[in-house]
Amino acid sequence: MKKVILSLLVVYISTTKIFADEGMWLPSLIKERISDMKKKGFRLTSEDIYSVNQACLKDAIVHFGSGCTGNLVSSKGLLITNHHCGFSQIQSHSTVEHDYLKDGFWAMRQEEELPNKGLFVKFLIKMEDVTATVLKSYNSSMTEEQRSSLVAENSAVIIKKAMKDNHYQAAVEALYYGNQYFLFVYEVFTDVRLVGAPPSSVGKFGGDTDNWMWPRHTGDFSIFRIYANKDNKPAQYSKDNVPYKPKKFFTLSVKGVRENDFTMVYGYPGRTQEYITSDAVRYIANISNPDKINLRTLRLDIQAEEMSKSAEVRIKYASKNASISNSWKKWQGETKGIIKNNIVQNKIEYETGFSKWAKDKPEYSTLLDQLKTLYEELEPYSYATDYLSEAINANEIIKFAGNIYNALLKESKSTEKNPALLLSIMDDFYKDYYQPVDKRSFIALISEYRKNVPENFQPEYFKTRMKEFGNIQNFADFIFSESILAKEKSLRGYINDTSCISKLEKDPAVEMYLSFNKFHNDNIKQKYDQINKKLTLLYRTYMKAIMEYDKKRDYYPDANSTLRIAYGKISGYKPYDAVYFNPVSTLEGIMEKDNPDIYDYNIPQKIRDIYKIKDYGEWEENGTVPVCFIATNHTSGGNSGSPVLNATGQLIGLNFDRVWEGTMSDIAFDTQMCRNISLDIRYVLFITEKVAGAGHLINEMNIVR
Ligand code: ARG
Ligand code: GLU
Repeated sequence: MKKVILSLLVVYISTTKIFADEGMWLPSLIKERISDMKKKGFRLTSEDIYSVNQACLKDAIVHFGSGCTGNLVSSKGLLITNHHCGFSQIQSHSTVEHDYLKDGFWAMRQEEELPNKGLFVKFLIKMEDVTATVLKSYNSSMTEEQRSSLVAENSAVIIKKAMKDNHYQAAVEALYYGNQYFLFVYEVFTDVRLVGAPPSSVGKFGGDTDNWMWPRHTGDFSIFRIYANKDNKPAQYSKDNVPYKPKKFFTLSVKGVRENDFTMVYGYPGRTQEYITSDAVRYIANISNPDKINLRTLRLDIQAEEMSKSAEVRIKYASKNASISNSWKKWQGETKGIIKNNIVQNKIEYETGFSKWAKDKPEYSTLLDQLKTLYEELEPYSYATDYLSEAINANEIIKFAGNIYNALLKESKSTEKNPALLLSIMDDFYKDYYQPVDKRSFIALISEYRKNVPENFQPEYFKTRMKEFGNIQNFADFIFSESILAKEKSLRGYINDTSCISKLEKDPAVEMYLSFNKFHNDNIKQKYDQINKKLTLLYRTYMKAIMEYDKKRDYYPDANSTLRIAYGKISGYKPYDAVYFNPVSTLEGIMEKDNPDIYDYNIPQKIRDIYKIKDYGEWEENGTVPVCFIATNHTSGGNSGSPVLNATGQLIGLNFDRVWEGTMSDIAFDTQMCRNISLDIRYVLFITEKVAGAGHLINEMNIVR
């Protein structure tokens, strides 16, 4: 009997589309999903989500910086994103005297809002399938080189046309490894000012201890404002600019969330690899992730030790440390998830089925073998590439050497001089540099490099140095005592024009940078790129093939930092035996974790005081304040700050993370384990009003109660 049920189940599973909640859908094609969305509770139309004719939800969303999402919440350009997305801006305005990371920052009047060099936000104006135009004049007798130059030429024409007589930016992006092409047109604003940020003890509550985990209590938000010129158009920062009037901004709902409620996340996921083969996944889980984790553990431990000794070092390394540890922890969750969910084995089984099907199809029959061979060829080059970025260029002084040298070189070749650029590279570096951290890391990283990278993948330069100095400590002493980059004052006096380039090439740090990177370019990168290019081409065919082979599956293009929609429902999960996690966390959990002796859990006194008298105002529910919730939306890095919307498109939260057990969703999504973590909008409002006393910002917003 059991067997019959089992086999019936298998038939059932393989004949229905069971990939519920998986998927990052293209807004302009959302019509195709709308009936499924409605079945799950959504109550608006596809035109409400994406339209080129009327203001719609997409017009209230921005790509924030290059790696996050933001959402508009007032008619005066007010924008909410995550605290970790605004982190480097908040940090850049902080000093020991005005420590906005520690104490928070709130502009009480518009004049106090702080401009941010280099920050930009992009609105998507429209997107369009341009596959036919990109492939115009293509015929199957063309070589791949001919095809790719054709694609480049046709894309350039499309982009030029899209940017004609307007101030927009346009790009053509390949989807499904080049089976489809889309045009994206953006309006880009560069005057974006910091309006408010809670103290890190709220915005980063739980720190790296709780990062990627549930239950979570992080008030991960910060507030910015977009400014425009008098015509509401993008303009460089000027004090004459005025708040931008968006086509659309979100209405906030504070009615609360319940398990099984519909939710949707609308934002910019960065990169996923849902269709890669078992060999690629095996390499990630068995080699690449463990090695990169090891290298970062070394750096993080050293930073943590030095940061705990001094407030100054803590501020200097806050942003760097957070970003190093973020991927470090994600890779660990991802590796565990791949192993626990048997992803490699599942892929192998899938590939066996595919091979059988493809056997008598000449176009497809050798695909998997070819992919396998290429992955074998790629492996040593991937390995060396990982070590270059995580063990060599990860050394601050080496990376800085590269930045300075390349900027000087560029300057020497250009007729336009830009001395401000050099100055800002130096300022940015020294502002947050503490040499003992860098030198200790250097010794640790280079030791790993020497131990693990095969000699034929090490530059001659390095082998000679090792012979000369005998050990890495001596080599480090040499770099850090002899390089002019290690002496801020001397470097500033030394670099006043490009005539110093040839002398600089002999500087120990610059020499090391150049030797490693030249060796890499000559011996590794070319080959690495060449194999990857071949892989992408094969994946183009493989993608097409699996779409024919497995017609039951719902396909969506891998994330590529373009605007996507994920939808699902509020839902708890069962991470391991005997445990079920509820989907909503509250202020009670913050109070449980509160501990003045633990940096990550030391909340502001103000919250303790408010908690005592339960002064929660209208943000209260069941005698407490909701903080975070989880749902089944398929999200990725880049979705941080994305609006989380209810069935009628109202803002109920901000996406900021995923649960650890589900971080393999960039490679394989599992409905049981994958959950995105959102900040409840009521906690944002609670902190803004009750803790920061910035109720004037809430008055700008449109809130349904
Ligand atoms: N894990 C989230 C993301 O990938 C949040 C990162 C910031 N928080 C932190 N503790 N480092 O961006
Ligand atoms: N925190 C991530 C970000 O910066 C989002 C979490 C994720 O990777 O899902 O985009």
